[in-house]
Amino acid sequence: MTLSNQERSRRTKQLIGVWLRRVGEPFIIIVLAIPALQLAYDSFWGPFLADPFPPATRISGIWGMRLLVAGLAITPLARMTGLAAIIRFRRPVGLWAAAYSIGHFAIWSLDYGFDLSLITTEILRLRYLFVGFIATVMLVPLAATSFNAAIRWVGGRNWRRLHWLVYPSVLLALWHMATAGRLSGVDFTIMSVVTGLALLWRVARALPKLSTAR
Ligand code: HEM
Repeated sequence: MTLSNQERSRRTKQLIGVWLRRVGEPFIIIVLAIPALQLAYDSFWGPFLADPFPPATRISGIWGMRLLVAGLAITPLARMTGLAAIIRFRRPVGLWAAAYSIGHFAIWSLDYGFDLSLITTEILRLRYLFVGFIATVMLVPLAATSFNAAIRWVGGRNWRRLHWLVYPSVLLALWHMATAGRLSGVDFTIMSVVTGLALLWRVARALPKLSTAR
């Protein structure tokens, strides 16, 4: 019996889905810990030892940004490829994005000896820090409600509404990155384009629902 191309592609997707479900999530969790472990090693024992704060701030920020943007792309990718199983990656990717971003802020604050008045003065003095700070604050409720018990407590509908915060947060983080960093134009362009496409995709899906709800 020969399978049609359509059937073959459906079965391949099913098989990939089964594997992604079985090993995908733990694999993602472990892989995304590697940059943090590398950063810790480089800072305590490796090349950053002499002055760890500038490279540690930079690298944690870059990983926070990469994962925030990657998290936005997962749902559109899942829908477009038919690989629904990758939706499960949203939670570990989102949690690591928040962890790297909050870690980035914590490393920067540690460089200031956690001096609250100095930290506040700097955040209010420099716009790029203020913008980054607001982006970080927006991520906190998202990270705090990513667990099943919290989702149940908040309610599915409110939880989905709350997660729209990720868009202003990523846009502010992009603004922060553009004004703070020394990242190449290519990186910035890729992240902006992916964010823009993910946003457009969401808006295009939300519009028909809004017009029928009226
Ligand atoms: C969602 C939150 C945030 C993300 C995703 C983020 C991401 C980034 C990125 C990608 C860079 C550019 C790194 C480079 O090209 O050199 C950067 C730089 C920087 N960020 Fe953030 N950031 C966030 C929040 C914050 C906050 C709250 C602070 C401190 C109040 C902060 C302090 C800095 C500093 C000082 C730099 C300059 C690092 C350097 O040039 O060496 N960031 N951030």
